[in-house]
Amino acid sequence: MRIMVIGTGYVGLVSGVCFAEFGFKVLCVDNNINKIEKLQQGISPIFEPSLDRLLQNNIAQRNIEFTTILDKNLEQVDLILLAVGTPSTDQGEVDLSYILQVAIEIAPHLHKYTPIVVKSTVPPGTCRKLKHEILNVNRDAKFDIISNPEFLREGLAVQDFMQPDRVVIGLDNPSSRDVMAKLYKPLQAQHVPIGYTTLETAEMIKYAANALLATKVAFINEIADLCEKTNADIQVLAHAIGLDKRIGPHFLQAGPGFGGSCFPKDTKALQSFAKSVGVKPQIVDAVIRSNDERTNKCIEKILAACNGNIDGKEVAVLGVAFKANTDDIRESPALSIICGLQKLSANLRLYDPKALQNARDFFGVTNNVRYANTSDECLRGANVAVILTEWDEFKNLKHMQIAKLMSQAVDIPKVLIDLRNLFNPLDFAGTSIEYVSIGRPVHFANVVQVDTHDL
Ligand code: UGA
Repeated sequence: MRIMVIGTGYVGLVSGVCFAEFGFKVLCVDNNINKIEKLQQGISPIFEPSLDRLLQNNIAQRNIEFTTILDKNLEQVDLILLAVGTPSTDQGEVDLSYILQVAIEIAPHLHKYTPIVVKSTVPPGTCRKLKHEILNVNRDAKFDIISNPEFLREGLAVQDFMQPDRVVIGLDNPSSRDVMAKLYKPLQAQHVPIGYTTLETAEMIKYAANALLATKVAFINEIADLCEKTNADIQVLAHAIGLDKRIGPHFLQAGPGFGGSCFPKDTKALQSFAKSVGVKPQIVDAVIRSNDERTNKCIEKILAACNGNIDGKEVAVLGVAFKANTDDIRESPALSIICGLQKLSANLRLYDPKALQNARDFFGVTNNVRYANTSDECLRGANVAVILTEWDEFKNLKHMQIAKLMSQAVDIPKVLIDLRNLFNPLDFAGTSIEYVSIGRPVHFANVVQVDTHDL
């Protein structure tokens, strides 16, 4: 089967490369010539574990090719996968203009039957809308529209594609089921659950999954705030509630709030969709509000740890990416926190193992934002250190090493504000560092060591 993937962003590229790895012939199309030229040379525009290797292997085996030419290639393919961007408008609605434009462009070329699989995240009703748009342009177009939402986490996208928890396929015409079964045959062989639904159910599943995960994150952050008021420990609490199978252990890590290209956009899209159909989305509203307020809470926390004054202090910022194992800084909580600290006149030095170039592009070089090439360089001489991303590299820092690297000035206290709870507060007992984390007793003197496995 020859597959055309339109759009080589995160979803399109990972899907294209993974379908090529399954053995299909894949042609990826994008109108960004620079990106296509890089991809032709086997250079991925994003950092994603395992992606480079699979990309290069499949180029070598001629399983995957990249082009900017759409129309001339359309008649050569057996299936089209739409993975173009569906960004948010200023009102939080989904901007469907790119995907609608692609539908209009492909419509005149659908002379032979070609299933069109929508991977882009789109509000319920969009697949049906695309079908009508195509038929408006070409009444004789031979195709089916299929909704096939993705559940890829950045940083684990290849793994999530190759070993997913489930595959969801929304159909308009039951006879397109066979081609989808063929597409996902390698996963069926691994006994991955493959669920067939209507178009609208598949579209809703995607939003519901992301909104529920975002709700878990917002919830645990709120509980962390309560823990701080009572000297309870959020890490122990999350572990304990997660042992309840109905709750589960995942997505209970308190932190600086959710970011990335999906949760903020998709919760707002669901909110906006709900309003458009006359439903008041009270839980989603609260999740968005709670997450929006998180940044200020984090800035206040940092300021409080610095006795209310961070003006002129040397601040080491460890992590800019919205989470570990990605170079993506889109909607990263780190961005707003860094901007907040900038306004408070802190002297910031940023370091991230993979996202530093994106951080440079975002902040530029200013008087109070500089960049470090290693975590040691970032920490050296700092009065304050703030951990914003949960990279393993930061988890592996030794508390004594941090204490040695930070400022040795005796008159200014050294503070480490760990907004990802990477360390045990007890580790800092006896060092010259005041360690502040999220939802855990602030002063190590209050900490009682608990073995969470004894719960
Ligand atoms: C998310 C979903 O997890 C994927 O299933 C989905 O396919 C993807 O969106 C998408 O719609 O394309 P992703 O945005 O890559 O994936 O990242 P997550 O791992 O879900 O994390 C999202 C945010 O929540 C991050 O800012 C992360 O730091 C935060 N988070 C996550 C927490 O603060 N605590 C947690 O326990 C988990």
